[in-house]
Amino acid sequence: MTYAKLQKVNMKIALEIDRLTKIYEGRVNALDGVDLEVKDGVIFALLGPNGSGKTTLMRVLTTQFRPTSGVARAFGHDVVREDAQVRKIIGYVPQEMSVWTDITGFENLLIYAKIYGVSSSSRNKCIQDALQSMGLEEVEGKLVKKYSGGMIRRLEIACALLVKPRILFLDEPTLGLDPSARKAVWENLMSFKKEYGTTVFFNTHYMDEADLYSDEVAIINKGKIVKFGTASDLKRSLHSEIISFLLADDQTGMGRLFRSNVLDRIKALNLVDDAVVHGTVLDVTVEDGEVALPAIMELLNCEGVKLKRVKATNPTLDDVFLKYAGMRQQRNQSGYHHGPN
Ligand SMILES: Nc1ncnc2c1ncn2[C@@H]1O[C@H](COP(=O)(O)OP(=O)(O)O)[C@@H](O)[C@H]1O
Ligand SMILES: [Mg+2]
Repeated sequence: MTYAKLQKVNMKIALEIDRLTKIYEGRVNALDGVDLEVKDGVIFALLGPNGSGKTTLMRVLTTQFRPTSGVARAFGHDVVREDAQVRKIIGYVPQEMSVWTDITGFENLLIYAKIYGVSSSSRNKCIQDALQSMGLEEVEGKLVKKYSGGMIRRLEIACALLVKPRILFLDEPTLGLDPSARKAVWENLMSFKKEYGTTVFFNTHYMDEADLYSDEVAIINKGKIVKFGTASDLKRSLHSEIISFLLADDQTGMGRLFRSNVLDRIKALNLVDDAVVHGTVLDVTVEDGEVALPAIMELLNCEGVKLKRVKATNPTLDDVFLKYAGMRQQRNQSGYHHGPN
């Protein structure tokens, strides 16, 4: 047996999803034949724009909704026929707020521990572990309405961690959090994952989050998985880089570029996929920068187009999204406070 095959045999599968569909009210095709496999112990990102079916898929996987057709299994348990077993091994944090703000963090955890049936003898230890996992020990006695948005999110995750799930589902876990709060959420999650080997499945429409924190990403668009792999595989699969030329913002730069047909001639060069101008920057998408750059420079030189700077950048997940889903993905916005309403 080859090493690759051996590895595959030894690799446990956390989630197997086979031709899953969900049609709401007989007409909204929210999931349109989703096939996916998530390995045990990975952080998996489902990346897609609003309305692409992320929450629907998570609700089917967490046994809240029945699929219209197809099969999904969590560690071998069918999410429809063995829903009770599935619920025992998963934790779920919805997108909407799932804690009470008029009581303390500790009291929230106590209520969840009772709901989950944690025995009274182990309750205190489970709560302390969960508080520690999310870095909330110091604020356990404070009213949740005094928490920041990031602390509330961490408390919600702590509640889902009380039962040490094998798979943790997070629906848009850092929506509306500022960058430092997002970082705190992920740092705590990563160390929890490291300690317990939990598989983390999260939905997001922030490509930078999928890029930074996931081991594997699937891009979903209109209920279909359009691409799957590690973030770096996806970026590499584009076979392209972007060379940005900062042009002089006068007649010697921008002016000359627009007076000549140099833009069309750059586009016609071998190895050049596209060339666009944003403000005073000319972005040229190329297959191989090292080969294409001298030819582009020569053309610009011959036409006397003055440059201030040249920079090459590798594609981002945003570019991957553009290629496979036909649109740009929304960038993360910071500064919006997600707090009690
Ligand atoms: N309960 C529902 N009834 C009818 N349509 C729904 C319902 N929930 C979601 N949808 C529709 O299904 C599609 C996918 O929604 P959703 O899974 O919430 O996407 P996402 O989480 O990616 O934003 C959307 O067109 C949405 O309007
Ligand atoms: Mg959603």
